[in-house]
Amino acid sequence: MNALPLLTSIDGLITPSDEAFLPLPDDGAFRGDGVFEVLRAYGPKLFALEDHLDRLQRSGAAIDLTLDRASIESETLSLLERAEGADCLVRIVATRAGRRIITLENLLVHPPSISLATVTYSPTVILNGVKSLSYAANMHATRIARKTGAMEALLVMPDGTVLEAPTSTLFWVSQDKLRTTALEAGVLDSITRDRIINALDVEVGRFQLDDVMNSSEAFLASTTREVQPVNSIDGQPIPMEPGTRTRESAAAFAAALASGLS
Ligand SMILES: Cc1ncc(COP(=O)(O)O)c(C=O)c1O
Repeated sequence: MNALPLLTSIDGLITPSDEAFLPLPDDGAFRGDGVFEVLRAYGPKLFALEDHLDRLQRSGAAIDLTLDRASIESETLSLLERAEGADCLVRIVATRAGRRIITLENLLVHPPSISLATVTYSPTVILNGVKSLSYAANMHATRIARKTGAMEALLVMPDGTVLEAPTSTLFWVSQDKLRTTALEAGVLDSITRDRIINALDVEVGRFQLDDVMNSSEAFLASTTREVQPVNSIDGQPIPMEPGTRTRESAAAFAAALASGLS
C-alpha cells in the first residue's frame, strides 16, 4: 500500500504538513487555548464524525470559542479524500485565533497489551469534559509513567479516585462487574467509552484505586487503541488472556464501528 500523504489543511488551504503555515500570534499555539479532536479513518470512511464534531463544538462552547462547524466538516472531508483510502488518523484543531487546522496522520502502533503506572493528577475543574489543547499535563504523565518502566500512565486523584489514562478511558472488572469512572469525576466523555457503555452492562461511578488493583481484567478504550488489555499496574500483574469481558467489549465496539462509519 502507498504511504499516507502527510497533509494539513489550514482554513481550507492544503499543503504538506511540514510546509503548513500558521499565522501568529495565536494563543492556540502560545497557550494551548483551543480545542481538538482525533478521528480514525477506516479506509475512506470516518468513524463517528458527528459525535466528534459534537464534542468539538461542546469543548469550544465551554471555553467561549465559536466554531465554524460547517467549514470544519467540509474541510475534513476534502482532506480525507487526499488520503486515497488509507487507514489513518484525522486531527481537527480549532485555535483561539480562529484557525481551523486539520491533519492526516499515520495510525499509532499499539502493542497487544499495555502496562500502566499510577500518576497523581487533579483535573482542572473548569475544563472538565473539554478536549482542550492544554494537554501538556497529560503528555507529561505518560513520560513520568515511562520513567518507571511502564508504558502508559493511569491518572489517580490525590484522594485515590481512579480517573483515566492521559488519552484513553480505563475499564476494569471487579466484583464481577465491568466498571468505569463517572464523567463527573473529571474524565473525558470518550466516544469509545460511550459505545461500550451503550452496548454492555457497565457500572459507572467513582472508584478507588484498590478496586482497580484487585480487578480480574482491565483495558483501555479510545479512538486509536479501540480496546487494549492492561497487563499490569505499578508492576502488579492484572490477569488477562485477554479476559471474557474485555473480549465482549472489543466485540461490542467492533459492532458499533461497523454501523458508525460514514
Ligand atoms: C483524556 C482522554 N480520555 C479518553 C479519551 C478517549 O476518547 P475517544 O474514545 O473519544 O477517543 C481521550 C482521547 O483522546 C482522551 O484524551
